[in-house]
Amino acid sequence: MTERNPQAADLSGYVALITGGSSGLGFEMAKQLLSQGAAVMIAARPGKRLENAAAALNAHGYHVHALPMDVTIEASVSDAAKWVEDHFDHLDMVVNDAGIGKNAPGMEDLPEDCHFYDIPVSTVRAVIETNFIGYFIVASKFVPIMLKQGRGSLVYVSTSTNTMTKPGQLPYGPSKAGAEAMAAIMANELREQGIMVNVICPGGFTDTPMAGKGMKEFFLQNHMPILPPTILNRTISFLASPLSNGISGEKIVGKDLDAWLMNKGITFG
Ligand SMILES: NC(=O)c1ccc[n+]([C@@H]2O[C@H](COP(=O)([O-])OP(=O)(O)OC[C@H]3O[C@@H](n4cnc5c(N)ncnc54)[C@H](OP(=O)(O)O)[C@@H]3O)[C@@H](O)[C@H]2O)c1
Repeated sequence: MTERNPQAADLSGYVALITGGSSGLGFEMAKQLLSQGAAVMIAARPGKRLENAAAALNAHGYHVHALPMDVTIEASVSDAAKWVEDHFDHLDMVVNDAGIGKNAPGMEDLPEDCHFYDIPVSTVRAVIETNFIGYFIVASKFVPIMLKQGRGSLVYVSTSTNTMTKPGQLPYGPSKAGAEAMAAIMANELREQGIMVNVICPGGFTDTPMAGKGMKEFFLQNHMPILPPTILNRTISFLASPLSNGISGEKIVGKDLDAWLMNKGITFG
């Protein structure tokens, strides 16, 4: 039996692709949209992680499409975009979520309080390749599908603004700052074509595999708040709803969604 959320709006016929859907925030956002009846593709690097995630979602009675795609490889993203065009007659939403942080190659052996000069240049390149260039490649291969249909929603998963410049956040913070600047340019370039581009972020440390065990223990020991991986579910559900039509160039913080909605005079769920 398919698990449906009776409280949430029906998204039958809505088609969404979520990169980074094999884990954490992306996995939970996929589950949310599936629970509302949307057709969802989860994209991640080929392998067991993606297969297991799809199997876990399908165990709830959903029919998620697992799309193997490495966001750092242009040909891989082009192939995935072609697959989507061949299998769906439209595409409503693309979520740029795939990212790496403290789990980037070369970071494993560095202490939490390391300085930027301790970080291998190869690590910086890997983070920028995934979090910035990866977001660009995905946008540049999937937005043309939306341009043909004259509508669509592109969503960038980012981080809290203060994380971008906080000590210890190189190269992750600047990779996200760059991605947000990219999203702002795209929002301006695409507004007239009916394509919305918005940034979302959890609003704090979130309990996902990216966070790493050491980091979670640090937060627990210091009684600091830890957000659940479902923190962006209502935000993505809002962005998939007709209530978000015309909203572009915004940054919505998941944990502050209600305040953001109130500020805009929008009643949602
Ligand atoms: N956790 C937090 O505290 C936090 C806070 C603010 C923002 N964020 C952002 O939220 C997003 C999701 O992170 P998360 O916390 O959910 O982490 P996560 O559980 O580690 O998920 C990261 C996802 O990215 C995918 N990915 C990594 N490199 C990829 C590549 N080259 N090609 C395709 N997919 C790739 C991973 O899939 P595979 O490994 O299977 O390829 C995985 O599905 C990231 O953009 C992150 O920066 C996280």
